[in-house]
Amino acid sequence: MARVWLVTGASRGLGRAITRTALDAGETVVATGRSADAVRDGLEGYHDRLHALALDITDAEAARAVASETVKRFGSIDVLVNNAGYAELGFFETFTDAAIRRQFEVNVFGTMNVARAVAPHMRRRRSGLIVTISSVSGLVSNSGGSVYSASKFAVEGWMEGFAEELAPFGVRSLLVEPGMLRTDFMDRKSASFGGIDIPDYAEAVAQYRSFVEGANGNQPNDPKLLAARIVALASQVETPARLLFGNDATQWAGAKIDKLREEIAQSADLG
Ligand SMILES: NC(=O)c1ccc[n+]([C@@H]2O[C@H](COP(=O)([O-])OP(=O)(O)OC[C@H]3O[C@@H](n4cnc5c(N)ncnc54)[C@H](OP(=O)(O)O)[C@@H]3O)[C@@H](O)[C@H]2O)c1
Repeated sequence: MARVWLVTGASRGLGRAITRTALDAGETVVATGRSADAVRDGLEGYHDRLHALALDITDAEAARAVASETVKRFGSIDVLVNNAGYAELGFFETFTDAAIRRQFEVNVFGTMNVARAVAPHMRRRRSGLIVTISSVSGLVSNSGGSVYSASKFAVEGWMEGFAEELAPFGVRSLLVEPGMLRTDFMDRKSASFGGIDIPDYAEAVAQYRSFVEGANGNQPNDPKLLAARIVALASQVETPARLLFGNDATQWAGAKIDKLREEIAQSADLG
């Protein structure tokens, strides 16, 4: 039987790919984005299995309204894909406090808003799957990624615990940690860059910007392949708690674990 999906950030990138893949698999999708028209654009032909709604995830009331409308119209929300997000890319001291707060407002509190709106429906039905699009940057942080990683580490910490709180009610969680995906993510259409000039960082910032410019559009991983993995996993009875996607992600996460093991061993040696 077709299930009902609610996807955030469905106008572009990974959210768009998940929406299309789920629709092609015969599912019903309530696809949301800051502009419902942008979400609908290019997704004609799915008729009443696609329902496009406007949702800026920083608006908690709008998130509640979208969840209620979905349940009223389709009877349930079987799969939530908490995907919308963006990156503040650059060195911590080059960001204003406002930019850092905006990063958390969207990636952390926005993602929480949507989960808070949907979880009660799933809890009452004793069933559902929450897919949270985190990042390998939720496990590993490097220079240039401190602010974005801080937001994704927060998502990981919150969702790892919230998943345990929901499990007794039959609500499952899948945390997704992609490596670099070929989307608008690194483009100025999506990403923001720290604007405060600090001479000490000038050379490192220039190198980082040239890395981002070179990587933009050439990322190694295909969002459509990840979308296919997520849609396939969502139809399994048992889902893993985590999905790392891409060789870059598995290598970076593996290196982090090795380093952590070493640090734990050194700490133990110190008594
Ligand atoms: N691409 C990567 O390398 C990568 C790697 C790991 C994780 N991720 C994560 O994957 C998710 C999707 O990113 P993407 O790669 O698909 O990037 P993208 O192509 O830039 O798409 C981002 C999507 O998020 C939406 N969005 C941004 N702020 C929003 C808000 N306040 N409310 C609602 N929607 C909002 C955008 O909508 P508008 O069209 O309205 O701007 C767009 O649909 C993000 O959580 C990102 O952190 C990406």
